[in-house]
Amino acid sequence: MSSSRLNQIAGHLNSPKGLLADQVAIVTSSGQGIGAKCARLFANEGAKVVISDIDGVKANDFAEKINASSGEALAVAGDLLNDKYIKELVKKFADFGGGKIHITVNNAGFTWDAVIHKLIREAAPYFRVKDGEPRNILNYAIAKASVVGLTKTIAKEWGPAFGVRANTIAFGHIETRLTANKEAGAFVEVDGQKVALGIPEKQKAAGGPVPFQDIPLRRPGSATKAASAILAIASPLSAYITGQIICVTGGRNM
Ligand SMILES: NC(=O)c1ccc[n+]([C@@H]2O[C@H](COP(=O)([O-])OP(=O)(O)OC[C@H]3O[C@@H](n4cnc5c(N)ncnc54)[C@H](O)[C@@H]3O)[C@@H](O)[C@H]2O)c1
Repeated sequence: MSSSRLNQIAGHLNSPKGLLADQVAIVTSSGQGIGAKCARLFANEGAKVVISDIDGVKANDFAEKINASSGEALAVAGDLLNDKYIKELVKKFADFGGGKIHITVNNAGFTWDAVIHKLIREAAPYFRVKDGEPRNILNYAIAKASVVGLTKTIAKEWGPAFGVRANTIAFGHIETRLTANKEAGAFVEVDGQKVALGIPEKQKAAGGPVPFQDIPLRRPGSATKAASAILAIASPLSAYITGQIICVTGGRNM
């Protein structure tokens, strides 16, 4: 093969560096599920990613995997319900990014809207910066008005002065342990109490003979599909989208 052809191939492989090149991102609760897929896609697109999860083993293993496959990741394990951890997380995140934070994906959910507020407040000094670099906040909402309101407020208040974009992603039925059969026995501990995860088999069967009849695409979404939508909104391709609710539902609840 000619050297000019080799140079051409090398050039193609090296550039572009990815949709999120030179950006630093955090994805909360990214040890598994949608958060993990999202962190992986971000790393593939050139972002440095912070993996935050209460499950230290999963967080560390996953960060190691990303680092071993030419990405850059830092695991910061801890409980997002703990205020001290949120402070430590933002500090380590900013150090990892050389004093900069570009993207925050507030994937941690269940019933804890307060976590999203606290994390954004702690990271605020890194978003309210006038250096012309892209900055992005993505929140998840399961029909929670407060998250939608917070997202719009950030878009309205931090958009004009700092160019920060903020959007809400609303998922439908995405296949993770949250939507697996409840009988599988998965749970999380909240305030020392076990909260069972999943959907009872009976409830799933009650949907009728046609599976996923209430979803126009007639299928659940995978965690990768959900994460792809987050990447799309975080990327420069969505540079003019802010303050919106993006529904990733296969058309459910139209
Ligand atoms: N799966 C769906 O269909 C669906 C639908 C709507 C919204 N969501 C939202 O998407 C987000 C991710 O859900 P998923 O389906 O990937 O769930 P998942 O159960 O697969 O993963 C959740 C992750 O959160 C971590 N976690 C739990 N408690 C934590 C804590 N206190 N501090 C830090 N990390 C903690 C877990 O260790 C786990 O790695 C959640 O906010 C969920 O509410 C999911």
